[in-house]
Amino acid sequence: MLKHFLNINDVSDSDLGRLFFTARSNKNLPLSNNCVVMTCFFEPSTRTRMSFEMAALRLGARLINFDVLCSSMKKGETWEESMHTLAALSPDIIIGRTSFNLETNFFAHFPISYINGGDGSNEHPTQALLDAFTLLEHFKTDDLSRRRILIIGDSKHSRVAHSSIKLFRRLGANVTLLAPRELLDIDCPFEHFNSFKEVEGQFDAVMVLRIQKERLDRECKIDDTEYFYHYGLSLERFLNLGKKCVLMHPGPMNIGIDIETGLYEHPRSLIRRQVQNGLSIRTELLRHYLQI
Ligand code: CP
Repeated sequence: MLKHFLNINDVSDSDLGRLFFTARSNKNLPLSNNCVVMTCFFEPSTRTRMSFEMAALRLGARLINFDVLCSSMKKGETWEESMHTLAALSPDIIIGRTSFNLETNFFAHFPISYINGGDGSNEHPTQALLDAFTLLEHFKTDDLSRRRILIIGDSKHSRVAHSSIKLFRRLGANVTLLAPRELLDIDCPFEHFNSFKEVEGQFDAVMVLRIQKERLDRECKIDDTEYFYHYGLSLERFLNLGKKCVLMHPGPMNIGIDIETGLYEHPRSLIRRQVQNGLSIRTELLRHYLQI
């Protein structure tokens, strides 16, 4: 692994195999150490922050959370200066989330390893790892070759989509995107559609994404009711995607907008499993970076 984990391509194929292997075999292994893990979340988070903090505690590390609202950023300090100040305190690792896309150059001489817990609309590499891990675990395979994955929703502004699509592709999957034109990642090298009617055939997995309202252009107005009518995943639509198609959502779900109430509890839903696997993957990442 590289010193910093900023993008999904920072993890090599051999590291990926090792990480997934240890995440499977070490699921319940507690360890004790004196490392200090610092979390610096400049955007709200439930799953990512809590699972990293839980992972740190499971490994016996000590935790410090940088309280952005009570920090000197409120007195005008920049993110860059705040990060260098925190690094000067010598935590063993910093895990962060930013509302803006990270500049890789910033980390060239940054003294502390940094794990990206999501940056702007750019990348969410640990989410991609847990998504791929969840699918491989479900299919009981080592790759996703010939698997068809449908991603419904805002792939344009979603950092989850940007990281997960790269990793799904590396693992051999075929991805199809479905979204209204203004929410579609047209740079994605896979087929994309604007209407459910255009989507054909059976899928192995469907991943639903919420509309990233905080990142939409001001002129882009999406009506929630209309969106649900055209793109929301209902039970009927889900059943039409394939008899064995599994359901995924990175969260947070916007119930009644991107997904029908209750569908997340379907027997073929992997949504809770994604959260559980987030803990396994992040525990292994911390174990690697803290060298324990
Ligand atoms: N999937 C994800 O990043 O969720 P949180 O925003 O709750 O961390």
